[in-house]
Amino acid sequence: MLDLLIHNASLPDGRRHMSVAVQGGRITEVTQRLTPEAAPAAEVVDAGGMLLSSPFVDAHFHMDATLSLGLPRLNQSGTLLEGIALWGELKPDLTFDALVDRALAYCDWAVANGLLAIRSHVDTSDPSMLAVEALLAVKKKVAPYIDLQLVAFPQDGVLRSKGGVDNLKKALSLGVDVVGGIPHFERTMADGAASVKLLCELAAEQGKLVDMHCDESDDPLSRHVETLAFEVNRLGLHGRVTGSHLTSMHSMDNYYVSKLLPLMAEAQLSAVSNPLINITLQGRHDTYPKRRGMTRVPEIMAAGMTVAFGQDCCMDPWYSMGSGDMLEVASMGLHVAQMTSQPAMQQCFDAVTTNPARILHLEGYGLEKGCHADLVLLQAQNPIEAIRLKATRLKVWRRGALVAQTPARTAALALPGRPASTSFLHTK
Ligand code: FE2
Repeated sequence: MLDLLIHNASLPDGRRHMSVAVQGGRITEVTQRLTPEAAPAAEVVDAGGMLLSSPFVDAHFHMDATLSLGLPRLNQSGTLLEGIALWGELKPDLTFDALVDRALAYCDWAVANGLLAIRSHVDTSDPSMLAVEALLAVKKKVAPYIDLQLVAFPQDGVLRSKGGVDNLKKALSLGVDVVGGIPHFERTMADGAASVKLLCELAAEQGKLVDMHCDESDDPLSRHVETLAFEVNRLGLHGRVTGSHLTSMHSMDNYYVSKLLPLMAEAQLSAVSNPLINITLQGRHDTYPKRRGMTRVPEIMAAGMTVAFGQDCCMDPWYSMGSGDMLEVASMGLHVAQMTSQPAMQQCFDAVTTNPARILHLEGYGLEKGCHADLVLLQAQNPIEAIRLKATRLKVWRRGALVAQTPARTAALALPGRPASTSFLHTK
């Protein structure tokens, strides 16, 4: 007998009336019209034609800062730089327990939203490694229900801050998974380029992935992504390196971008755009017209690279909003990038599911035989409808076990001559 059979489901690739069989935490079959009679299971779910997806994945988050909104004060200018300064004011007051509590609260929201894998940056600037130790403890605690991957992130600049290199190395030795960086925050362009070189060499030596905050700036001359691509080629790190934010690309000259994109593609760079944050932090020095400050997502995708949309921040010094809802993130990305064609909207769904899974190098992710039985049933008929509705996560499974459920969205009152309820689904 199977552990779980979900039948009559629609899948993100458009297949309908599909059944997914689960045994021992893994998907054992994905096929059409496998009935409960033909395949008895301990738990049987009729998906009613709704969308069954692999879980959401967030390729870019800051779990050490999450839910700290207002501590010790609010960001008045709304800029990235005031956010960094504010985080610096908060750091002396951080405690291990408070960091862990806030992170776990966010993880609860994540699971309820079907978000079961997160790559979080953790600030390594503090020699005490307080935030690093706290998030390593969180990683262990949430492992049964969330894959939490940590990036050693030198928020104050690996060269700009005293002891930056040693602190980052210490974080890696404690078990942090990925090498991070912030070249545009180093003192000079030359130092930024030197930091990219140093950090890529460190990753090559230690066999680590790389994910740098790169060119999170409106300055079109912030071109550290070019150096990043160069170092990947030099060190053979192809397919292992991600450029996060890349917002300066929005402001760059088109001619230069026509040279840059092939260099990035040659290095098989991945990109993470953070639409909620980039649309609010960037362009703050502009009057009108105001730049939108999001990188060139459709163009990077068209050049053959993997692009994900990340949450980045949730109720912290940089962003007062957010709820761990990757469909909200996809919706904002869709609007800001004007990705409104049918294939482009589908790509926006991929940008919060399969694409970030590839960036994280997640093992066993997917809707195929042999993959982990990590699944989300959404109150929507297809990925585009899921984004439009920020669809209710009806059920969330991790390794075949139900970990969250939410009642379907309905309206209680009926108008005369109308059906008694509506779920906001589009029925022709
Ligand atoms: Fe970030």
